[in-house]
Amino acid sequence: MRQKIVAGNWKMNLTLPTATELLHQLIQNIPHTDPAVQVVVAPPFVLIPTATHLLQGSTLAVAAQNCHHHAQGAYTGEVSAPMLQSLGVQYVIIGHSERRQYQAETDTQLAEKTNLALANHLRPIFCVGEPLHIRQANNHFQLVAEQLQNGLFHLSAEHFQQVVVAYEPVWAIGTGITATPQQAQEMHAFIRQLIQKQYGETIARHTPILYGGSCNATNAAELFANTDVDGGLIGGASLKAADFLQIIRSF
Ligand code: PGA
Repeated sequence: MRQKIVAGNWKMNLTLPTATELLHQLIQNIPHTDPAVQVVVAPPFVLIPTATHLLQGSTLAVAAQNCHHHAQGAYTGEVSAPMLQSLGVQYVIIGHSERRQYQAETDTQLAEKTNLALANHLRPIFCVGEPLHIRQANNHFQLVAEQLQNGLFHLSAEHFQQVVVAYEPVWAIGTGITATPQQAQEMHAFIRQLIQKQYGETIARHTPILYGGSCNATNAAELFANTDVDGGLIGGASLKAADFLQIIRSF
């Protein structure tokens, strides 16, 4: 009833030859996977035209890893939502913790990025999640609630229906330490409850909420088995075709 999504966040990895090879392997093997699962790859900007070209006619969709919070202008080195749309990109990751941390992206900027994504027919994959010290202080629910409130909940119901939420506990990203299925389910159910309060039962029931953070071919099945976990945002394990394909088959 809810769309299942597995999205591969390549981050700043791969080159033209290695990305092309990975995409070929995915295309060749994807027909054997469940058609109910939307598979998304998020290459670095420079590899997006290659990805959209190679994936044309396939069931895979392309995401960007970011977009700028202005639509155009004198922002040297930046990439806008209209540019992404013009390349055939369908999704954009917004608010990844690495950008919140290293690029000091603010909630206000993330809300602006979300607006621009939606205005340009890109589905935001909006990331939330707490650093370790916040979880240790037992403030993780409060922080995630604030991230949703500040970055997403200004949206109209019509716009919010396009949004995919990704819960990525920062302490689990790239560390090999995955949230337990219970920790993931607990936070996903909490997020869905907040969506329900804001937008009502129907929209809450239909919003895909992905888990991210050291999700791999071995642990994906037990994470995806939870009621409120609708798939994953996969970093490291999305760079190897066999692992990524195994994750796609983990529902
Ligand atoms: P990881 O990254 O799977 O390598 O932990 C996930 C992410 O940052 O989206």
